[in-house]
Amino acid sequence: MSEIPRLEDLEARVGDLSGKRVLVRTDFNVPLDDEGNITDDFRIRAALPTIEWLTERGANVVTASHLGRPKGEPDPKYSMEPVRVRLAELAPGVELLENLRFNAGETANDPAFVAELVDGIDAYVNDAFGASHRSHASIVGPPQHVPSAMGRLLEKEVDVLLGLRNKPKHPFVAVLGGAKISDKLGVIEALLETVDAIVIGGAMCFTFFAAQGKPIGSSLHEPDMIDTCRDLLAKATEMGKTIHLPDDITGTDASGNFAQFGSRLGEGSIGYDIGPGSAAAFTDVIMDARMVFWNGPMGMFEDERFASGTRTVAQAMADTKAFTVVGGGDSAAALAQFKLDDEVSHVSTGGGASLELLENGDLPGLAALRKN
Ligand code: 3PG
Ligand code: MG
Repeated sequence: MSEIPRLEDLEARVGDLSGKRVLVRTDFNVPLDDEGNITDDFRIRAALPTIEWLTERGANVVTASHLGRPKGEPDPKYSMEPVRVRLAELAPGVELLENLRFNAGETANDPAFVAELVDGIDAYVNDAFGASHRSHASIVGPPQHVPSAMGRLLEKEVDVLLGLRNKPKHPFVAVLGGAKISDKLGVIEALLETVDAIVIGGAMCFTFFAAQGKPIGSSLHEPDMIDTCRDLLAKATEMGKTIHLPDDITGTDASGNFAQFGSRLGEGSIGYDIGPGSAAAFTDVIMDARMVFWNGPMGMFEDERFASGTRTVAQAMADTKAFTVVGGGDSAAALAQFKLDDEVSHVSTGGGASLELLENGDLPGLAALRKN
């Protein structure tokens, strides 16, 4: 993606950056606890290389981000204050605007809001990989008005994810979990073109079980997606690709007690995790791969009783010699919880954005920079 301007291109175009006001769109959408404390500052730290590159050159950096999903008006619950405090510790003297989504113009991509954002700004840098799949004002607007470039984080994310998509090393395995197949359908279809195998865990697997005619008890599933799962299984077979589904499940029985099952769950039983046999089998697939992309936990890992499938897969990601990429969100949080986040090749700061980039090979935020 050489056609997207980098920071060096921006400097060449604008000239001396000293004293220039540079708007940096970051993804500071960090998890907060009930008291409003940041529980993981990964996304703030990830923006530092770009911020430091600019401040070293004397630029006046103005950062801007959304936080949560406020409804287009100020909401104290989503104030940027905790982020401002942490940012001041990590990068003193860097400005941070108030939550972009306090203005309805942000998600609506209102030109008037874009004009407000670029007022007095000499250059724009997009380093908000996690939000670059959104056609929001702060993502797609500024490049139409001021010289623009991608920051270091965005550049790294794009390099790694497009590398998976366009230059796969085989065996290339995608490990997908989470609750909803509907969220991942597009990416599964796109991945089937490049991967050798897809490993499926999480509640998603019950929709596949239902498609295979297996009883799933009262497990979470998407009835609307059963036919789609049946089609995906058929399509994979046709393409000579393997879809690995769990063949044992951990959960609760009809009385609510912890229980182990095969891949058939009786009435009233609920599956919450892949079983130990499946976790071991999935480990083998990951160990034998040369490239692995993982998105979505294997089970309800927040509950220690149902964490072992996700922990085993996370450990396999750490142990394999494969090039390993973890797509943001819950799987990144799981990896951090198991203290394995330094053991994989790349942890993406974007959940939805990484899936969409793998699916489409492009993002609205990248297209906007390319046109700049
Ligand atoms: C994320 O957390 O995935 C990004 O910050 C995007 O947030 P959004 O899904 O609310 O647009
Ligand atoms: Mg490794």
